[in-house]
Amino acid sequence: MENTFEKVCALHEIPDNSSKIVNVGKSKVALFHHKGKLSAISNACLHKGGPLGLGVVEEKYDGVYVNCPWHGWEYNIETGSAPPGYHDQQAVYEVKIEEGEVFISTQPIVPAKKAQHDLSVLEDLIKLKYQTNENSLNILGISTTNLHPNLPRYSTSEAALEKSLDYAKEKYGADTRLIKLRDIEFRTCEGYYSQHMHACTWPCSITEMDPNDGMTEVYRSMILWADIILVSTPIRWGNPSSLYFKMAERLNCVQNQITIQDKILIKNKVASFIITGGQDNIQQVAGQMMCFFTDLGFAFPPFSFMGWSRGWVAEDMDKNVMQFKKSQFVDRSTREIVDNCIETLKAMKTTPAQQLKAPKPHKKDSWSAEMENPDMNM
Ligand code: FES
Repeated sequence: MENTFEKVCALHEIPDNSSKIVNVGKSKVALFHHKGKLSAISNACLHKGGPLGLGVVEEKYDGVYVNCPWHGWEYNIETGSAPPGYHDQQAVYEVKIEEGEVFISTQPIVPAKKAQHDLSVLEDLIKLKYQTNENSLNILGISTTNLHPNLPRYSTSEAALEKSLDYAKEKYGADTRLIKLRDIEFRTCEGYYSQHMHACTWPCSITEMDPNDGMTEVYRSMILWADIILVSTPIRWGNPSSLYFKMAERLNCVQNQITIQDKILIKNKVASFIITGGQDNIQQVAGQMMCFFTDLGFAFPPFSFMGWSRGWVAEDMDKNVMQFKKSQFVDRSTREIVDNCIETLKAMKTTPAQQLKAPKPHKKDSWSAEMENPDMNM
């Protein structure tokens, strides 16, 4: 069947070395003008629908490629093919110029075909294969302090966390795990969400791209395995540690599931915090951590953090560890936060998780939800 064409713009509207997103029938097409040559491929990236017409065009590999602005998949702007070694094929449209006007075929001349991408190592995350049950007592400790492996020093936050985990194991027979963020390699969040809510994916697209992403262990343990999490942090200039924030930003993909599909990944899980510093600001740090973890769906027991600091003028840090180690308060409070977490968990295990609601904004709540963004594919 002969293809029909639709006028999409005047030639002067797509100057050399530029690109443009145009409508052809109901489809959005990315039109490129590179070194005097026009070409057109479907605008919707085969990964998650990112707008290819907004991507950067570069000469590389065996041709000219556009980078998807969401997570960087690449397509040859003339053939629609993925770079050598990959098998995705983007739809290609025919372009013609008549009397200074640009026309694009209403049907692709090469159809799109998404290749099989082996994500079997992430299957448990994709399918949310929870490892908790009504009798499980899995307690995950996450230590967010940063120490150089060749210069070990005593960390009060990590020591307190280890005390809590040891106590949970001895007194309650809990299964415990400890993740030290400094021991796992993981990339910082790249803020894909800021381009489009659907650009922030579960599992995180960095996890999809990087088989060695250390956050996979955090996601698996926190989301699928743990009943209780205990997060420890030192106080750094009145805030949790930088590693804590690095992890928290990568957890945006958990919270974002609520925004885009009202899907709550964290149900009937309890969190508490261990916050230690030489001087002060425990309550500010606790408030910040509680705010973040409640937005993920964690519940808190009464008195959900223990803190240790010696006050504003206690600059004699050489005495901090000495006093911490002797402190009966530390011994008691690291046990009591565990007791409280476990009591709360017991009550939560009897609460049907299906009924949990997330009173958070969903994508339809935006005042501009009905307004179309002409560049986007969804
Ligand atoms: S790379 Fe295009 S949507 Fe992810």
